[in-house]
Amino acid sequence: ASAPLVLGIETSCDETGIGIVRGETLLANVIASSMEEHARYGGVVPEVAARAHLEALGPAIRQALAEAGVTLGELDAIAVTSGPGLAGALMVGIGAAKALALALDVPLYAVNHLVGHVGADLIGGTPLETPTVALLVSGGHTSLLLVRDLVDDVELLGETIDDAAGEAFDKVARVLGLPYPGGPEIDRVAVGGDPAAIRFPRGLSLPKDLERHRYDFSFSGLKTAVARWVEARQDAGEPVPLADVAASFREAVVDVLLTKALAACRDLGVPRLLLGGGVVANRRLREVAEARAAEAGVALRIPPLSLCTDNGAMIAALGARLITAGRPPSTLGFGADSTLPV
Ligand code: KG4
Ligand code: ZN
Repeated sequence: ASAPLVLGIETSCDETGIGIVRGETLLANVIASSMEEHARYGGVVPEVAARAHLEALGPAIRQALAEAGVTLGELDAIAVTSGPGLAGALMVGIGAAKALALALDVPLYAVNHLVGHVGADLIGGTPLETPTVALLVSGGHTSLLLVRDLVDDVELLGETIDDAAGEAFDKVARVLGLPYPGGPEIDRVAVGGDPAAIRFPRGLSLPKDLERHRYDFSFSGLKTAVARWVEARQDAGEPVPLADVAASFREAVVDVLLTKALAACRDLGVPRLLLGGGVVANRRLREVAEARAAEAGVALRIPPLSLCTDNGAMIAALGARLITAGRPPSTLGFGADSTLPV
């Protein structure tokens, strides 16, 4: 049998993603983002995201089919993100996926968004090697996973106990008077700044924290520390050294992310680290990841950015893998699960 032709639908946050794969070959990856609509609120507004998915889905599906050069009738299966994510946003994608699967009479696979991020590495090039530790960092999640087998053995090692890493970038950007989304802005402003100028806190890194939260993250204290530091400067009537603050904040985030991810690799004897999520666009994160992974003898994998940010292709690729592994499809009664575990 030839590799299955799968259409994947991703609507867990603010990106409407439609991807089409044939097995592990990418045919289309259409992403419509409602980011701009959220910009004036300084973050993703669930209701706005859900409505935007409703408007974007139809055109995105048509565009993906055209790019892939296939018709709906040729699809072998549909895959859709059923969680975790924003419930209302997820429901829009799930509704569309069920309608398609019913009308086309093809199997439907409900998949986990975080496992989907790992599935991004299936696409093209070299195969996903396991076991691997995966660090997923975006505006919605910051999770550390141990992937022994993509289909049936993915373990959550830790996650953020408050803000996601991308969210921290967005909030600190706001403190610094920079627009949303904050990640790219902070990257830009940090150029020429000294990452060692200010020692901002690394969340959950004290010996007492490491017992219970060895692989967990916390960024809300860091955000507060930056805000206090900036306020103190302003109160004293002194100028705020933007580049140094941005570079020092970014360093704190990058340091804690990679220290914990590489500690997991070492503790568990896993010599592989996969990165995913929109924060992977961060230049310093990539730079430090490459240097520290090399030093630790850990093979680093970073899929292309278009497959790191939320997208439908990774969902389609995971669906194709489930089919190849002989997994039964989902029954049509499933719903959106905003806290779906891996
Ligand atoms: O994966 P993504 O596109 O969407 C979700 O959050 O689901 O990630 C967007 C997040 C935003 O918080 C944005 O500020 C952050 O990723 N981001 C960055 C950079 N580019 C985007 N964070 C740090 N550095 C960047 N260069
Ligand atoms: Zn994501």
